[in-house]
Amino acid sequence: MKGTRVGPLPRTIDAADFLYTPCSRPFPAQNFRSSRSLDSQVGPSSGTVRSYYSFPRDYLAQFYEGDVDPGNQALLRFYATVYLDLAGRSLLEFGGGPTIYSIITAARTAGWIHFCDYNSACLHEVDLWWRNGDDAFDWSRFIDYALQCEKDGAGSGAAGDVLQRAGLLRRRIRQISYCDILADDPLLGCSLGPYGVVANTFCLDSMIEDKAQWEGLNRKLAGLVDRKGLYVTVSLLNASHWTAGGVRYPAVTLTPGDVLDLYADLGFHVTYSEVVENLEGKIGYDGFIMVCGQR
Ligand SMILES: C[S@@+](CC[C@H](N)C(=O)[O-])C[C@H]1O[C@@H](n2cnc3c(N)ncnc32)[C@H](O)[C@@H]1O
Repeated sequence: MKGTRVGPLPRTIDAADFLYTPCSRPFPAQNFRSSRSLDSQVGPSSGTVRSYYSFPRDYLAQFYEGDVDPGNQALLRFYATVYLDLAGRSLLEFGGGPTIYSIITAARTAGWIHFCDYNSACLHEVDLWWRNGDDAFDWSRFIDYALQCEKDGAGSGAAGDVLQRAGLLRRRIRQISYCDILADDPLLGCSLGPYGVVANTFCLDSMIEDKAQWEGLNRKLAGLVDRKGLYVTVSLLNASHWTAGGVRYPAVTLTPGDVLDLYADLGFHVTYSEVVENLEGKIGYDGFIMVCGQR
């Protein structure tokens, strides 16, 4: 089963204009009975954060357009390492935003992927890519670099070509749906879990400032990980904030020790961790903390 959608989505990004079925399962438009707009579905969150995410194209242009920069190279190398062999595990990509770069390598060996985000416009971007739409964001450089990383790390048999990998990733995505980590049920009734892998990249650390709250949200998300499953986090290092389009957004201030303590408290043993520093053009933080742990 592939992800789903409700008829062709309009080109303009306006949350009130387009609707997803609650769980975005295959759902032909003519059978459309119940759907909810972003505004009627989501739980509480900061108005500031919501306003920014209404413009995912600006976000994509700022962080992911053009050549794959050293920070993104480090991220792709990290995923090529920790997703080297997922042995058919299911994977939940939580708060994936308008991006798919974090699951390029996972497509090789994951059984299937559930992609979710809080924001309708972000889901629209991913949906457009999944449909191979003319206006979809071009991830080919990222896919190409991920393939290089896989080849370097794993030797023979890992690499393929960009189009093949894009096709494989599209086939692996079983569901695209809304989520809200602040809700009692973060998958809003759409869970396919427990999951063999639960991952979040710059999500839980980039929406709040309070460390105790960050720990609580991670506990909730890690609760979706299956027995012996993996919990993967990528967070900003020593952040005071982050900026997009010149606007400041909240971030929790984290050291590598904070993240490692979190994994210990949650009962995961860390299988891989890495800190990336000295990245150019990073405002409000010093780099990335990338960690994978197993239950
Ligand atoms: C900084 S972006 C990161 C997006 C992507 N993972 C990346 O690496 O670029 C943070 C994401 O968290 C999502 N988000 C904001 N509030 C959320 C909430 N309450 N629950 C789940 N996701 C949320 C936003 O919609 C956004 O896509």
